[in-house]
Formats: sequence, structure tokens, C-alpha cells
Amino acid sequence: MSIYKAYQVEEISEKNFAGKVVELDTNDLPAGDVLVRVQYSSLNFKDALSASGNKGVTRNFPHTPGIDAAGIVIESTSADIEVGAEVIITGYDLGMNTAGGFGQFVRVPANWIVHKPTDLTLYESMVLGTAGFTAALCVDKLIGAGLHSEQGEVLVTGATGGVGSIAISLLHKLGYSVTASTGKSEAEGWLKELGASNVIARQELSEPSTRPLLKEQWAGVVDCVGGHTLFNAIKSLQYGASAAACGLTESTDLPATVLPFILRGVNLLGVDSVELPLARKRFVWELLGTSWKLEGLSDVAVDIKLDDLSRCLPELLQGKARGRYVLSLGD
Ligand SMILES: NC(=O)c1ccc[n+]([C@@H]2O[C@H](COP(=O)([O-])OP(=O)(O)OC[C@H]3O[C@@H](n4cnc5c(N)ncnc54)[C@H](OP(=O)(O)O)[C@@H]3O)[C@@H](O)[C@H]2O)c1
Repeated sequence: MSIYKAYQVEEISEKNFAGKVVELDTNDLPAGDVLVRVQYSSLNFKDALSASGNKGVTRNFPHTPGIDAAGIVIESTSADIEVGAEVIITGYDLGMNTAGGFGQFVRVPANWIVHKPTDLTLYESMVLGTAGFTAALCVDKLIGAGLHSEQGEVLVTGATGGVGSIAISLLHKLGYSVTASTGKSEAEGWLKELGASNVIARQELSEPSTRPLLKEQWAGVVDCVGGHTLFNAIKSLQYGASAAACGLTESTDLPATVLPFILRGVNLLGVDSVELPLARKRFVWELLGTSWKLEGLSDVAVDIKLDDLSRCLPELLQGKARGRYVLSLGD
């Protein structure tokens, strides 16, 4: 038994949720093969939804959110996961209906676990977290669909967010030219430092357009926002190019017609980081620790502690966050 600290969200009155730092007992964690002492977690849009009581993410409260965790194995009943191993857990049910990385311990099934790539620290793995991992999945899908660097600009929407900012850094590292779309005009300089060559205002893409097609512009799109923005981006894809859709911060709707698909042969690629088979997760994490390793990850990181969560989580919901919040769970 160990007593540990965690950020726990409770329904304090009907549909009114609040979180605070509490002490919990590892004996009360759910059953699982592997007990991990969490060193770092990170904040994702889904954590903000869970912490605000979104029942599509978390059904039962009190609950410890945190869809990401990186730490050291303390107990294991699995032959594949040795005690002392440094591991990463992202997605599956972590932080949704299983107590997540906003606590100093998690207990999870062995088949949720990825061994940390050798050249990535636990801290760096959580600067990336689900957001960085998802950015890598988007880029990997676009490349798999034929994206190459001579084609021109790749559009990234929701550019200052976790997925967007890492997608820009990754595309830049891999030799692509990036246009960043953002609602934060003051972030232009920062987005250019990350590797964007152009920055455009969110409104340029978010207004509905009645035109069936728009001028061919993008060699590829990483879309974090959905809605009119995604359809306008699809209408502006070059012939045969692809958009990778991973997010919904503007809307879950896609107000679309089939015309760009049947007149320009463009592709819409779905990206899911949560239920992706473990072998694929391990492969993409290895990529992020080797040939796709980003230098200067700390440039996108904001370091926080458990006590900061009540302030930082609402910033994500309001679209005010920039880059990646990394939660340190050491004493
Ligand atoms: N498919 C998956 O497996 C997966 C994995 C991770 C995340 N996601 C989803 O991907 C999206 C981005 O995640 P994230 O971690 O990057 O979130 P985030 O850090 O909160 O960033 C989201 C960004 O979206 C933009 N935005 C916010 N409100 C908006 C609005 N009303 N209209 C248009 N843009 C808006 C903002 O960027 P600007 O101010 O720069 O425009 C904001 O920084 C979320 O919807 C998340 O749920 C999906």
C-alpha cells in the first residue's frame, strides 16, 4: 500500500464539477498487470473535457483524469514488462474511466504499455504526449498517402495547440513547408520559430463558403479543429492530396459535399491515437525517439504541478493554451 497525491474531479452539485489535490491509496486503483509510479503527465483537450464533467469522456466521478503518463514500473505480473522499466502509457481507457496520469500512480493492463524509446527522456515523452503522438500519426498518414516536400505548403489548423504546434515542428524537421492557421495573432512569431513559413488567421478558413471548390493550395492538411475549417481546407487541397483529420475544437460537424472528392480526387484520412493497436503505437513512438526526434522540445513546454491544474485545464477548453503543459508528479 502507498498513499499518493492525485488531482481528483468530483461532481459537487448537479452538473457542477471541480477538481482538487487529494491523497489516495494505491490499493484503491483498478485491477491491472502493472503498477507505474508516474513521473510526468501532460494536458490534452480530452483531459479538459473529462475535468469539466463531459460524460462522453468520463462517466463516473470522483475521477482522476490524465490520458498520458510516463514513469517507472513498480510492480508487474507481466513477463513483457519488467520492474524498473521506464514506460509510456497514452490512450486506451487511461484517464477516461480508468484513473489517469494526474495521480502519482496508475495501474494498467500490460497491453497498454510502450517502453520508452532509448533516446527520449520521460520528460520529453510527455512534452510530446498524446498530442505529439497524434501529430506524428497525422504526418505519417499524409506521407503514406503520397505527400512529398516539393508539392508546396502543408496547412496545420489549431496551430498553437498541442497537436498543431508539434505537427509544425515535425513537418519542418522533415523538410515540409508549413502554413499555420491560428486564432492567436500574437503567436505568429512563436509559430515561425517552430518552423511555420506562413501564418494565417483562423477566420480565413472558418467562414462557411458556398463555392463547391476553392483555389488549389495545400499539398496536405493536418486538421485539429473540424467544422467549416476542415471542409474549406478539403476544398483547397491540390489535386489528389490528403487531409488528416484528428480534432474537433471548432466543431464535430463536417458540413461537406462530395465534390472535392469526386472532382479533385482528394482524400480525407481519419486519425485515432486511442485504440490504435499497440504494435503500431510502439512503432510510432520509436520513430519519435529516433529519426523523427525533435530537438528543443522544451520550447513548446510549460511546466506545471498538480496545484496548477485547476487554472490550466479551463485554458484548454477556452482555446487559450499555447503548446504543451507538462505535469511533473515528483514530490
Ligand atoms: N484523434 C485523436 O486521437 C486525437 C488525439 C489528440 C487530440 N485530438 C483532438 O485534437 C484537437 C486538438 O488537440 P490539442 O491537444 O492540440 O488541443 P489544444 O492544445 O487545446 O489546442 C487546440 C487548438 O485549437 C484551436 N481552437 C480552439 N478553439 C477553437 C475554435 N472554437 N475554433 C477553431 N479553433 C479552435 C486553438 O488553436 P489556435 O488558437 O492556434 O487556432 C487551440 O489552441 C482536439 O479536438 C483533441 O480532442 C484527437
